[in-house]
Amino acid sequence: MWPDTRLCRMLDISHPVIQAPMAGTTTPALAATVSEAGGLGSHGCATLGPGTLRDDIKQLARRTARPVNLNFFCHDERAIDPAHHRRLLDALAPHYAAAGIAPPTGMPEPPFPAFGPAQLEVLLAQPPAVASFHFGLPEAAALAALKAAGCRILASATTVAEARWLADRGADAIIAQGWESGGHRGVFLDVAQDARIGLFALLPQIVDAVEQPVIAAGGIADGRGIAAAFALGAAGVQIGTAFITADEAGPKPLHAEAVRHGADASTRISRAVSGRPARAHRTAWLDDMTQVEPAPFPLMYHYVAPLLAADPETYRFALYGQAAALAPGGTAAERLARLVSDAERVFSGQSHAPG
Ligand SMILES: Cc1cc2nc3c(=O)[nH]c(=O)nc-3n(C[C@H](O)[C@H](O)[C@H](O)COP(=O)(O)O)c2cc1C
Repeated sequence: MWPDTRLCRMLDISHPVIQAPMAGTTTPALAATVSEAGGLGSHGCATLGPGTLRDDIKQLARRTARPVNLNFFCHDERAIDPAHHRRLLDALAPHYAAAGIAPPTGMPEPPFPAFGPAQLEVLLAQPPAVASFHFGLPEAAALAALKAAGCRILASATTVAEARWLADRGADAIIAQGWESGGHRGVFLDVAQDARIGLFALLPQIVDAVEQPVIAAGGIADGRGIAAAFALGAAGVQIGTAFITADEAGPKPLHAEAVRHGADASTRISRAVSGRPARAHRTAWLDDMTQVEPAPFPLMYHYVAPLLAADPETYRFALYGQAAALAPGGTAAERLARLVSDAERVFSGQSHAPG
């Protein structure tokens, strides 16, 4: 049924549907369920220490022998200067007071590192079928080691220039991530001047620019979106938001509530919580924070994590994308089956089946 099977052959999967890696939301159970059902399950591992990463890989291996994708961040690690640190504490002082908490003490330490030797060592001990990267790629030697161990490499691009950059450095397939996407934008070549391109404009231009198969991501949550992506030249789709509230995902009560509000729930891109642009549920606080220059990713968590913990309602940070209301319900396997059968209907000229 699939008009393009390059990704299925490359990744040894039945359906070119990738359940997106979502750090803090995906679990080994979710990824394994999707892989067992014929898609590519992914686990967002960027925030895991080496011990948990090793444990999660073991859990995945117990649950499935099918290909699975493990995902990491390749951000530049930057410090914050003391003057910026003081400005942030001043700007957030009214919020610490309103939440009834003391400001965080000391200069920030990164809550997790960029992909490096520690994660590489764990992966090389038990190489996943697929490794994917957000915010660029690991350094050349690490990438070569992963490829030599048999891993296929995927990475996100938000512009044609980023897609070419990734293709030139050895990515096996490129994820075209549109502005609609939930979660962090993978933008990495010019974060300050984010081009903010929607998937309909971005996808065909990346398809024309690189030889590798292109995977469409952003705002796809039913068969119509999948069929549209293939019509625009995609060889596969990566879907995050439509899996957030699956039974196998980590508990996300605020997400469920936001998704239930459907089209009325508005999202915005904000740097307020991590320091990098991410699409999340729109709140008055995120709107206010456009006035504040955030700390470099991921140091901003140091300043706002205490607020999120003290008052999760006011300082809610629920990452999800613009098509949340279209998501099917049920378990991850049911959602994947629904997405595949709905795409099949649309490919064969029948109307999309809502729900
Ligand atoms: C809650 C959430 C967390 C995410 N975390 C990651 C991540 O850890 N790594 C990554 O490469 N992409 C991450 N993404 C982005 C997805 O890979 C993908 O680009 C996006 O979900 C596609 O748009 P959609 O949410 O509209 O389907 C995340 C997305 C969401 C919604």
